[in-house]
Amino acid sequence: MLHAMIMAGGGGTRFWPRSRAKRPKQFLTFSGDRTLLQGTVDRLAAQVPPERTWVITGEPYVAETRAQLPEVPAGNIIGEPAARDTAPCVGLGAAVIGKVDPDATIAVMPADHVIEPVQEFRRALHAAEQFANDFPEKLITFGIRPTFPSTGYGYIRRGEPAGTRQGVNAAHVIEFKEKPPAEVAEEYVASGNYDWNSGIFVWKPRTILGELHARRPAIHAVVVRIAEAWGTPAWDDVFRASYETAEKKSIDYVVMQDAAKDGKVLVLNAPYTWDDVGSWLALERGNPQDADHNTVQALHCGIQTTGCVIVGDAGRVIGTYGVSNLLIVQDGNAILVADRKYEDKVKEIVDKLKSTG
Ligand code: GDD
Ligand code: MG
Repeated sequence: MLHAMIMAGGGGTRFWPRSRAKRPKQFLTFSGDRTLLQGTVDRLAAQVPPERTWVITGEPYVAETRAQLPEVPAGNIIGEPAARDTAPCVGLGAAVIGKVDPDATIAVMPADHVIEPVQEFRRALHAAEQFANDFPEKLITFGIRPTFPSTGYGYIRRGEPAGTRQGVNAAHVIEFKEKPPAEVAEEYVASGNYDWNSGIFVWKPRTILGELHARRPAIHAVVVRIAEAWGTPAWDDVFRASYETAEKKSIDYVVMQDAAKDGKVLVLNAPYTWDDVGSWLALERGNPQDADHNTVQALHCGIQTTGCVIVGDAGRVIGTYGVSNLLIVQDGNAILVADRKYEDKVKEIVDKLKSTG
């Protein structure tokens, strides 16, 4: 049976001031009326019913996650007592789901992406499930054609073809490189041999747990010990006592890079378009602009205002005169004003605020 495990524990500090403490990126709405987290569950719903949908998030976000996803059983929404990045998260999800359903196939999803069109996503997921059944010892990834030499993504080098399911082609992976330096990313993109890793994975619990055991036995031991307590009164205590001892690393660094070297990874050509909604400028991609190229989610009165992204709380008015290329975001008692070229530096404000109290 196909299960979905949604990873929803990231910080999203590039969306300050909206993404303050209680509201990381997955809880925000970028277009329409569903949040990124709700959109992730909606997209899966045709193939994965709520009882096979799992969300792993940080403990402080459990209440909001349950409120946004009333259809998902409360017990499937797991709150980590400490954020340990995605390797422990993925391992814990596999160990718990594997205990509940030993024949499971797991689709691991980030909670904070926009993926379209949904039919193509479903076709890709259907194909991945078939590949996982036909190649149960492989870790399955989705490759996206890169459009610029990003240093924020993983890069996947395609090797020999591995077949086609649902019209989706797979290849054996010969290299997986997480977040390469800029010069390397430029070479990769110029070569045409590399895809971006879309951050979605499909695998059998025993396969990813076997890889985790081989590459990071200490993380494996922690998640297996916690999963043994699943469904027993000891769960909370074991989870709280052990989870924070797991090494804080992402699954990309801990497993994917080395597993690819050993020929354990497949990449499917993702037939959908994908946006990881990395900063405020992402709003421009999901929404119409006014005649002066402003993207506005606010009550805005602008004169000679061009190329801005303007966001505000309902009932607040934002007036602008003679400004161009700014990000202006009002949220509660905080306001961001930044040059749009610094879209990915907004998190430095959060760091500075923290360090200065
Ligand atoms: N539960 C939980 N706990 N979730 C987490 C944690 C954690 O400690 N840390 C991160 N996440 C969630 C994030 O909320 C996000 O949904 C997902 O896991 C991926 O984490 P990111 O921190 O956003 O990873 P990334 O964007 O730097 O890199 C990953 O995604 C890229 C595509 O967007 C990698 O897989 C890259 O290879 C990939 O290209
Ligand atoms: Mg990300």
